[in-house]
Amino acid sequence: ALIDKGNHRHFMLKEIYEQPVVVAQTLRSYLRPLEEKVALPDMEFDLSSVERVTIVACGTAYYVGMIGKYWIERFARLPVEVDFASEFRYRDPVLLANTLGVVVSQSGETADTLAALRHMKASGVTTAGIINVPTSSMAREVDLLMPTHAGPEIGVASTKAFTCQLAVMAALAVNLARAKGRLDPDEERDIVRHLTEVPAAINAALAHDAEIEAMAGTIASARDVLYLGRGPDYPLALEGALKLKEISYIHAEGYASGEMKHGPIALIDEHVPLIVIAPSGPLFDKTVSNMHEAQARGAQVVLISDAQGLAAAGDDAVATIEMPAVHPLIAPIVYAVPVQLLAYHVAVAKGTDVDQPRNLAKSVTVE
Ligand code: G6P
Repeated sequence: ALIDKGNHRHFMLKEIYEQPVVVAQTLRSYLRPLEEKVALPDMEFDLSSVERVTIVACGTAYYVGMIGKYWIERFARLPVEVDFASEFRYRDPVLLANTLGVVVSQSGETADTLAALRHMKASGVTTAGIINVPTSSMAREVDLLMPTHAGPEIGVASTKAFTCQLAVMAALAVNLARAKGRLDPDEERDIVRHLTEVPAAINAALAHDAEIEAMAGTIASARDVLYLGRGPDYPLALEGALKLKEISYIHAEGYASGEMKHGPIALIDEHVPLIVIAPSGPLFDKTVSNMHEAQARGAQVVLISDAQGLAAAGDDAVATIEMPAVHPLIAPIVYAVPVQLLAYHVAVAKGTDVDQPRNLAKSVTVE
């Protein structure tokens, strides 16, 4: 079937807007609301025997792995290692018995990730894949296919595949936790409820599109942009910086908020916008105090938080983006939306080719 942009100016914007539907569609194949459970497809191995997890991916999918590390360690208490597919193979990784090897890939064809998957299989590791293209090489080769139902993604910079991958990663974390006897039914019921709320929360996040567009002009003139986050929002800061680099060609870096004072704070002046991703929750105060350190040095902050967080942070930010109140653990799925929209509108303001950025390919099938 021919895919078109509908009423949208770019595929990327269309795909950003598809997220409430495709994330709901993806969640639907994992959530069992009547039983208040999160299920995975049938598998021929026993998740309770898993003792460690190794996640391998490239690009945006790699950040899904990093967020997955927070979730799996937190819920299942299993040690998780995350690696770039291109590094994994060549460092002769130590793959102990009872490792679950997980690949994350939109296309299912990225050469490095496919090679990493084959390496794990050849080492006797049981593998699972969070994959969007069901007919892809990876989808055919993993022991357990955990599909995302994002539909075809045309924009080179991944958006809807990312949030769908996170939804599936959450399902994997919950299933590992239950298999390891780490999750009581009450907790699982809560998680099901929080995940069920995600599509509506994404919708609420999309409602801030015009506001984000209005602030894009200022950021478009920056030479460097910094993104800060903590905990599961740290990988989202990395993803925000990647998106901006990919499509607007502005140099951007993501940093763990607490690490800013060990380097990037030296870069800060009134010309470096600082995008702070800080949902209210246990890590909020720490991130805000890092933000204040930067503001004391002239940083122009765009704060992304919920109503409670924005009220608590004071009004020193040059701009704020208000997100719906969500559980801190699922915040990265919802906060991905303003991060994507910001990159998109900055790129449009700069007049770059949003759907086909220079030098990049949708699927990198060479090493
Ligand atoms: C390319 C794309 C990225 C994507 C990465 C991994 O670099 O431009 O958007 O995240 O490949 O692709 P995959 O298909 O394996 O998720």
